[in-house]
Amino acid sequence: MLLLPALIAALLAAAHAAAQAAPSPTYTPPDASQGTVASPAGASPNPQWSNLLGNTLWFYDAQRSGRLGAGAYGNRVGWRNDSALQDGADWNLDLSGGWYDAGDYIKATFPLGYTMFSLAWGALSYGPGYDAAHQTAYLDGTLRWGYDWLMRAHPSDDVLFVQVGGNDADLAYWGGDQNIPTPRQGFPVNASHPGTDAWASTAAAFALGSLAYSGAQWNTSASAHAPASLTNGTYAALLLQHAESLYKTAKSTTPQATYSQSVPQIKAAYSSSGFGDDLTIAALALAAATNSSSYYQDAYNYYQQYALSGKRLVWNWDSRSPAAFVLFAEVANARPGIAQAAGLATNLTGWQQETEAYLDSIVNGKQGYLTKGGLLFYPGDSDEASLNPAVAAATLMLRYAPLASSGDKTAAYNSFAKDQIDYLLGNNPMSRVYIVGQHPNSPQNPHSALAAGGSNINNIRSDPETEAYVLYGAMPGGPLKNDKFWDYRDDWVQTEIALDYNSNLPSIAAYQIVNGSADPFYVSLAANSYTTPGGQPCDAALPCRSGLSAGAKAGVAIGVILAVILIVGALLFWQRDRVRRWRSGYRFPGTK
Ligand SMILES: *[C@@H]1O[C@H](CO)[C@@H](O)[C@H](O)[C@H]1NC(C)=O
Ligand SMILES: *[C@@H]1O[C@H](CO)[C@@H](O)[C@H](O)[C@H]1NC(C)=O
Ligand SMILES: *[C@@H]1O[C@H](CO)[C@@H](O)[C@H](O)[C@H]1NC(C)=O
Ligand SMILES: *[C@@H]1O[C@H](CO)[C@@H](O)[C@H](O)[C@H]1NC(C)=O
Ligand SMILES: *[C@@H]1O[C@H](CO)[C@@H](O)[C@H](O)[C@H]1NC(C)=O
Ligand SMILES: *[C@@H]1O[C@H](CO)[C@@H](O)[C@H](O)[C@H]1NC(C)=O
Ligand SMILES: *[C@@H]1O[C@H](CO)[C@@H](O)[C@H](O)[C@H]1NC(C)=O
Repeated sequence: MLLLPALIAALLAAAHAAAQAAPSPTYTPPDASQGTVASPAGASPNPQWSNLLGNTLWFYDAQRSGRLGAGAYGNRVGWRNDSALQDGADWNLDLSGGWYDAGDYIKATFPLGYTMFSLAWGALSYGPGYDAAHQTAYLDGTLRWGYDWLMRAHPSDDVLFVQVGGNDADLAYWGGDQNIPTPRQGFPVNASHPGTDAWASTAAAFALGSLAYSGAQWNTSASAHAPASLTNGTYAALLLQHAESLYKTAKSTTPQATYSQSVPQIKAAYSSSGFGDDLTIAALALAAATNSSSYYQDAYNYYQQYALSGKRLVWNWDSRSPAAFVLFAEVANARPGIAQAAGLATNLTGWQQETEAYLDSIVNGKQGYLTKGGLLFYPGDSDEASLNPAVAAATLMLRYAPLASSGDKTAAYNSFAKDQIDYLLGNNPMSRVYIVGQHPNSPQNPHSALAAGGSNINNIRSDPETEAYVLYGAMPGGPLKNDKFWDYRDDWVQTEIALDYNSNLPSIAAYQIVNGSADPFYVSLAANSYTTPGGQPCDAALPCRSGLSAGAKAGVAIGVILAVILIVGALLFWQRDRVRRWRSGYRFPGTK
């Protein structure tokens, strides 16, 4: 008798699991040579943008940690193995799962907040693109893989694990996923060691995810909404619960502090500069997810308190105000009632002014500059991964363009974004397609311990000569400010990959599908037509050749002294007769 309810529950669970978007047809990244094949005119969805969308999501499957088959559609990366299953054991928690953050094996929560926010934002607005490309099941799988881990990393209101792994042994390891050094330490923030930024950034990610799963309309343009099959009220409610709990903790725990101040052992990885922007965007995303005027009021108060207005900063995991401007405008457009109820004279016109002043400063070259080849470059921010800031700016422009105050501005933002995306996809001085596995001109040596296949940390570049696995869909750091790109696996500045670098690419590809764009730029490039620059890179990973170490300088000095001694010796030998005469008092004619 007791079995019957259990059986019914099991059947219901199976029905639910089946209902969760199942991939159909299944997607496997095609060979890079497919990147040269022009699509039939008017093909819809465009096969090349569909592949780009598929690959940039596939990258997140390749970065998985934990039990790989645990997701809705299992493991689709044949060369990956289960790993780091004991994560969290030091705290009697299960912190397995999630993703390796970049080319090494740490799991980092603060930048993951930005990554999930970006992925969810794309889901919210370009749903028809994911649907048309049959990628919604993979989008769902990717979002859930990230959110499910963040929920495990948030076991109670104030406790949020901000990093797993990252001690000296981990950082000294280069090799595959089967020998990752253990034990791996978990680092939490909590009421006594606050991480206002990490709490708030994670809350923002949860809130936007909740909105994407809620099935609510997000009205920035006629075609802007999440994929209908993503809708799941249960999951949306779960995400919202974590968002509200984290936000409340961030708002009320005093003193407020950055997580890198509170847990200094890990600040080397992703040191945070503040929390005002994180609080603003968390409250705003919660307002969007709940229609609550009080969250909106909080967001507006933080925006004023932390003087975000007029900030001219790059958009990345540590700098959220550019996204806040655009999200304020979206909220004013999609939910005008919220601000009105909060009694604030901040309507779409006001947020258009704020956002357009920001975007115009990029377009007009007053924020960052364009390299000779045309890449938006922020001195400082772009030096150690140049593509990421440019791609982030392009994403904001595409997203905001339909809301702009004039047709001219809409056109200017679309055009600037297109130029950056074209640069990324091959219209650059190297003719490089900066997405691994997308085209024969793509880089082949991403700095990724998972994909490299080597275990010799002293020869990452060429042991082995050929990267073992193709890390499809990964965007590397990118070229240096002279537009030159060296495909060196040990040059992490140019070739390392990361969750946050990739996080806007699915949005860009899904947008192009919605837009009905023609083939991406790379289709026009002949196979292997890229340039290999002469000389050597000169960056934080591979210091310039002239910048010799003290030991090398000493070596050079000794070499010079020896050479001088040899030359003088040889001259003396050659002129030995003269020298003998001189020593014996003989004066050469003409000398005094
Ligand atoms: C909705 O999400 C919940 C929570 O993850 C899950 O258990 C359920 O199977 C999902 N339902 C559908 C219809 O996908
Ligand atoms: C996964 O295991 C297989 C079999 O041992 C191995 O060949 C492969 O390199 C491993 N993958 C990684 C990423 O280390
Ligand atoms: C709170 O976090 C700090 C910093 O990570 C940690 O050292 C401490 O053990 C944590 N406290 C508790 C009670 O878990
Ligand atoms: C969405 O925006 C369009 C104009 O872009 C408007 O006609 C429509 O009423 C809006 N829908 C909702 C649900 O707000
Ligand atoms: C918020 O408002 C929108 C439209 O005004 C509605 O579609 C949506 O369901 C609301 N969300 C909540 C959580 O009430
Ligand atoms: C809209 O915002 C602008 C700029 O902040 C302001 O001048 C105007 O009064 C606002 N209008 C309303 C109806 O609130
Ligand atoms: C696609 O984007 C361009 C601007 O880049 C715009 O002019 C055009 O109207 C868009 N087309 C569709 C179908 O959205």
